[in-house]
Amino acid sequence: MTPSPSSRLHAARIATLEEMADALEIRRAVFIDEQHVPEDEEIDHYDGDPTIVEDAVHVLVHLAGHDSEGDADGEPIATGRLLLDDPPEERAHIGRVAVLAQHRRTGAGRVVMQWLQDEAQRRGRPGITLSAQLHAIPFYERLGYTARGEVFLDAAIEHRWMDLDFA
Ligand code: COA
Repeated sequence: MTPSPSSRLHAARIATLEEMADALEIRRAVFIDEQHVPEDEEIDHYDGDPTIVEDAVHVLVHLAGHDSEGDADGEPIATGRLLLDDPPEERAHIGRVAVLAQHRRTGAGRVVMQWLQDEAQRRGRPGITLSAQLHAIPFYERLGYTARGEVFLDAAIEHRWMDLDFA
């Protein structure tokens, strides 16, 4: 049987400074180098030592094994974070969803989102809200999100708010 793309992927909560550094390396490549977001806007207090920061949960997605292209076992390829400082009865905020360019369209973004959504649901949140770059709206729509409101600029990039309510 041919494994599905996501069966090659392993998602886990970031628990150490070393794992946080892996996630920030992915975000640097994607948001700072590729999208030209200024570093002081990209990295903030939610990205500190995960043994100390209490109002954010980060996920790191690794390749789970060697594949025909020779990708290394365990290579970190995607990340994202869930912010938990809004009141618990409100939707939790997902942000900084990033997949290394060479690994896009293989299901990694979906794995990041599913893990963060499951975490929000475990914590009793009623849903998710996020600000989507316009190019990423079809990706979030595939996952059930609905856009609302006007286009706005964040780090000089056009965004819209999107929401998902857990059934
Ligand atoms: N346009 C239309 N559909 C898209 C899409 C796009 N740009 N990107 C992904 N999809 C679809 C896939 O085809 C797939 O559809 P399926 O359900 O029919 O299989 C589904 O969305 C899931 O795709 P997946 O492979 O998991 O997405 P990805 O790993 O390529 O990750 C992003 C998507 C947006 C996270 C990735 O392109 C990325 O990191 N971009 C740069 C950083 C960024 O802009 N992040 C978002 C900030 S708001």
